Amino acid sequence: MTSPATPPNLDDRDAAIALLRWYVEMGADEAIAAEPANRLASAPAPAVAAPIPSVPPTPRPVHAVTVAPPRALTESLAEAAQSARRLAAGAESVAALAALIAGFDGCGLKRTATNTVFADGNPAAPVMIIGEGPGADEDRIGRPFVGRAGQLLDRMLAAIQLDRQGVHITNVVYWRPPGNRTPSTAEIASCLPFVLRHIALVHPKILVLAGGTAAGALLPGGQGITRLRGRWFDLEIPALAEPVPTLPMFHPSFLLRTPERKREAWRDLLALRARLDELLREGVEN
Ligand code: URA
Repeated sequence: MTSPATPPNLDDRDAAIALLRWYVEMGADEAIAAEPANRLASAPAPAVAAPIPSVPPTPRPVHAVTVAPPRALTESLAEAAQSARRLAAGAESVAALAALIAGFDGCGLKRTATNTVFADGNPAAPVMIIGEGPGADEDRIGRPFVGRAGQLLDRMLAAIQLDRQGVHITNVVYWRPPGNRTPSTAEIASCLPFVLRHIALVHPKILVLAGGTAAGALLPGGQGITRLRGRWFDLEIPALAEPVPTLPMFHPSFLLRTPERKREAWRDLLALRARLDELLREGVEN
């Protein structure tokens, strides 16, 4: 990881070059448009201009709303959620929490999973990323974000001078949903007390919610990720005196399927980097 003391400080030209490099690294090395062109149509299709990535604007000042995770999930009366709440409250370290989760049988997903997938990266990192749930590769290996989405996530982080030592990564559920389906509300509610305790123990400077499932589990209001992404929230976490600055972003799996949305993801990454530098500077000054 590049030292946080050396912010990227991109001027417009460097930002444009970095963006182009990022597109190429992601496999977008052909001049294509978001809509497919029918090249078999009798009339020649109008020429499609290569998309010229615009230079992302300088991140706007942050005006975050203070929010708490959805009550329907955090106060779930289901037995599994109550037992998770009791267990999680007793964890005094990330390692102790990992052990409690490995022994927890209250989430139905565990029955079909091969491994418990808890976390990766550095628990002392300033950025914590929360995804949806393990896929096939993660289930096999027992670590989050090791498959294609994880590789893209690594490239996204590298574009803002972060790597796995600069972040801590987990998911809203610890076991693979069969067939990679979205985890159900009950499955998320049974794991959420551990997730909240995990955030409190790591106490990150910034929390990133990767994708609509993580955003829906931790932010109230039921809005989709397209509306939420790029907006800052101050998220109240039980046991933390101050809310955690929280940024929802598109999930890397979504970006793999929908590469034309990478432009927005790039903007969010720049906003993340800028806010992180600001918070790290404040930390040094105070
Ligand atoms: N997608 C996720 O949300 N989490 C993982 O760990 C892997 C893919």
